Amino acid sequence: MEIAVPTLHTARLTLRGFDRADADPLYRLQSDVNAMKYWDSSPWTDRVMIDRFFTSGDKMVKQGTGLRLAIDRRDGGGFVGWVTFNSWNPEFRSASLGFSLLPETWGKGCATEAGVAVLDWAFATFDLNRVQAEADTRNLASRRVLEKLGFRLEGTLRQDCVVDGVVSDSWVFGLLRSDRHEPPIKRATAR
Ligand SMILES: CC(C)(COP(=O)(O)OP(=O)(O)OC[C@H]1O[C@@H](n2cnc3c(N)ncnc32)[C@H](O)[C@@H]1OP(=O)(O)O)[C@@H](O)C(=O)NCCC(=O)NCCS
Repeated sequence: MEIAVPTLHTARLTLRGFDRADADPLYRLQSDVNAMKYWDSSPWTDRVMIDRFFTSGDKMVKQGTGLRLAIDRRDGGGFVGWVTFNSWNPEFRSASLGFSLLPETWGKGCATEAGVAVLDWAFATFDLNRVQAEADTRNLASRRVLEKLGFRLEGTLRQDCVVDGVVSDSWVFGLLRSDRHEPPIKRATAR
């Protein structure tokens, strides 16, 4: 069933469906070597990737398997990055979470604030029991965000990814409905 894409508001951020007008900042983010350092694919080098991103996002929503939400600053500061809730499996009642933000916005709590909003929405919207997230074992900032969101480290996938010939391990994190707790962050309201 198609997912109704929400607009979510937090204290400092708005999370909303992607728009073609996001193409330029999205490309800047996805082609940034630092932002993509621990990603499971290489930085973008061709703008054709923008269309592929939008097409796969539309497909996820139509098929009801998940979505990607663009994150904007509410103070007019514009595009910060994006968060994804995907791989929704109604039978297992499980899904996955991911995020990517522009480097100039890092260290201000934006990923955590956006993560709280999308998790609040997801647990309220779906009969969701488990959310999984994976992170390169060198990605300490991502680990910290997931811990702040209440995820528990469950294990390591050895030699999980090979990107440009570099083999890396991934951590697996899980958040269950039963172990949700509320980080000290203003909760999101859906419009
Ligand atoms: C990971 C990412 C989303 C974090 O975004 P952010 O907005 O900076 O995250 P927050 O500010 O909410 O929290 C970052 C936390 O990591 C901590 N941190 C940052 N770098 C760290 C490091 N090298 N070692 C340990 N902790 C680190 C920060 O201190 C902060 O924790 P604190 O609040 O306890 O001080 C961002 O760095 C990013 O987009 N990276 C590129 C894409 C990516 O790797 N996505 C995740 C894929 S799994």
